[in-house]
This record gives sequence, C-alpha cells and structure tokens, in this order.
Amino acid sequence: MQLQGRTVLVTGASGGIGRAIARALDARGARVLLSARREDVLEQVRAELGGRPQCLPVDLSDPAGAALLAERAGDVDALVANAGLPASGRIERFSTDEIDQALDVNLRAPIQLTRALLPGMLDRGRGHLLYVSSLSGKVASPRGSLYSATKFGLRGFAAGLREDVEPKGLGVTVVYPGFVSDAGMFAASGAKLPPWVGTRTPQQVAEAVVRGIEGERAEIDVAPLSLRAGSLVASLAPVTVARLQRRLGSVGVADSIAKGQRPGG
Ligand SMILES: NC(=O)c1ccc[n+]([C@@H]2O[C@H](COP(=O)([O-])OP(=O)(O)OC[C@H]3O[C@@H](n4cnc5c(N)ncnc54)[C@H](OP(=O)(O)O)[C@@H]3O)[C@@H](O)[C@H]2O)c1
Repeated sequence: MQLQGRTVLVTGASGGIGRAIARALDARGARVLLSARREDVLEQVRAELGGRPQCLPVDLSDPAGAALLAERAGDVDALVANAGLPASGRIERFSTDEIDQALDVNLRAPIQLTRALLPGMLDRGRGHLLYVSSLSGKVASPRGSLYSATKFGLRGFAAGLREDVEPKGLGVTVVYPGFVSDAGMFAASGAKLPPWVGTRTPQQVAEAVVRGIEGERAEIDVAPLSLRAGSLVASLAPVTVARLQRRLGSVGVADSIAKGQRPGG
C-alpha cells in the first residue's frame, strides 16, 4: 500500500518512537491521526507537522478506549499500534492493577483496535495493520517477564491474523526494535549498555514502519546484527541463549533499566 493520501492511525504518537513515526508517515503524504493520552503533546506534534494531522486523545487502559478511538478515527487505511508501557521489573513487585494496565495498553488495545477497524478495511478491500513489538517479543530477558508476555503476545496475534486477512488483500506487519537511543522508554530510563551492545534511533524504527506498510513486509527487526542473530538463535534454543545472556551481564543491564523505568521495581 502506498502511503500517499492514505489515512493512518498512530497510537503512542506523543512518545519518542511515535513522534518519529508520525513525522515519517506525514513526509510520505499520509493523513496522520495522532493518538495518546497527553493532548498537549499531541498538539505539539501536530504543530510541528504544519497542523496537518488530527489529534484523537484517548486512554487505552480504559476498557472502552480502543472502541472509542476507532469510532472517532472513522475510515482508516492503516493502523500503527505503537502505544506501550515498559512494564519492566520482577512480577511480584507489580500490583494486580499494574499488571492489568500493561496487558491492556500493550496487548488488549491493539487487538480491540484491530477488531474495530477490520470490518471497514475488509469492505474496502484494502488496509494494513502494523504492530510495534520489541526484540523482547522474541527473546525474554531478566525483569522482562510481563513486558515480554505482551510483546510475544502481539507476535502471535499478528501471525494468526495475517493468515486470516492476507488472502483478502490486507497486510500485517510486526516491527521489532531492539534498544532505541535518543528518545523513548529505554533512553528515558538512563540505563547504560555495555559498549558492544548497539542501538538504533527512533527514525530508524519509523523508516521500518514505512517499509513495512509500503513493502508489505511481515516482520522487520530494527537492531544491530548481533542482537538480530541472538534473537534468531533464541527462538531455537531459549535456555542456552538465556545462560549466555546472563554471562554477558544481562541481569545488571535489566536491573538498571527496571530501576530507571520503575523506581523500586
Ligand atoms: N524505546 C525502546 O527502546 C523500545 C524498544 C522496543 C520496543 N519499543 C516499543 O515502542 C513503542 C513506543 O515506545 P517509546 O519508546 O516511544 O515509549 P514512550 O516514549 O514511553 O511512548 C509510549 C507511548 O505510549 C503512550 N501510552 C502509554 N500509556 C497509554 C495509555 N494508557 N493510553 C494511550 N496511550 C498510552 C504514551 O502516550 P501518553 O503518555 O501521552 O498517553 C506514549 O505516546 C512501545 O510499544 C514500546 O514497547 C520501544
């Protein structure tokens, strides 16, 4: 699907990666609908983009949030489900409400948005559904059990959905960023990575989103070769890769990310 003139709904558009995605889609000539909770930040993004996008503030942890957003968005050609919470830390330190919130924003809302937008796309015989997962949706790490549950979940959902909708002319993409520098939830944690672990920028994630939609790609990793190779091997030998990760210092890195994202976590 070429993006020129198409309507694209972007969730998490007030965040580090979402802003970059909104800019990239706008630059391709798409009509961008920006969603997140913070209306003032969405308005800043809208102003940055010459007032072209429309802002649709909504709280996706609200059980009615996804349906409300889909209704306000109207006919959408592509969904970029990017909103997410870091949800890092030991599971026993989360309250039951915090667990529900992470599942709601990271997994339930993308599924419900898809459910609400799909009939229109099927009627029009065109549409694209893109989910921003994470390499944590392919490889689990210490302190990442809840986050990985949501990000592995998106992968499974998208894979099944693709089987149902591709024969009807619709596209489904999952984008898997590794560590993202400059802006977004990892950068905001202030955690330092060992020098041999590379990062990617929000712009590179945004380029992958454009490539995913325009090139009808099923899955795109946005990470250095070493992390991409590690995630491939992890799908075949998860326990061996987890052991190797621990030897390379994954516990210390995960603890500093969790501390930055969730003090006390
Ligand atoms: N940064 C990384 O290194 C990295 C790596 C892999 C994957 N990812 C994924 O990339 C996506 C974007 O993350 P980011 O790094 O840009 O994080 P971010 O800067 O923290 O942005 C998160 C976005 O989600 C929105 N959001 C959070 N709770 C919400 C709620 N209840 N209702 C509606 N929107 C909500 C936030 O908007 P409001 O606060 O305004 O509601 C914000 O726009 C996430 O799915 C994340 O898991 C990030």
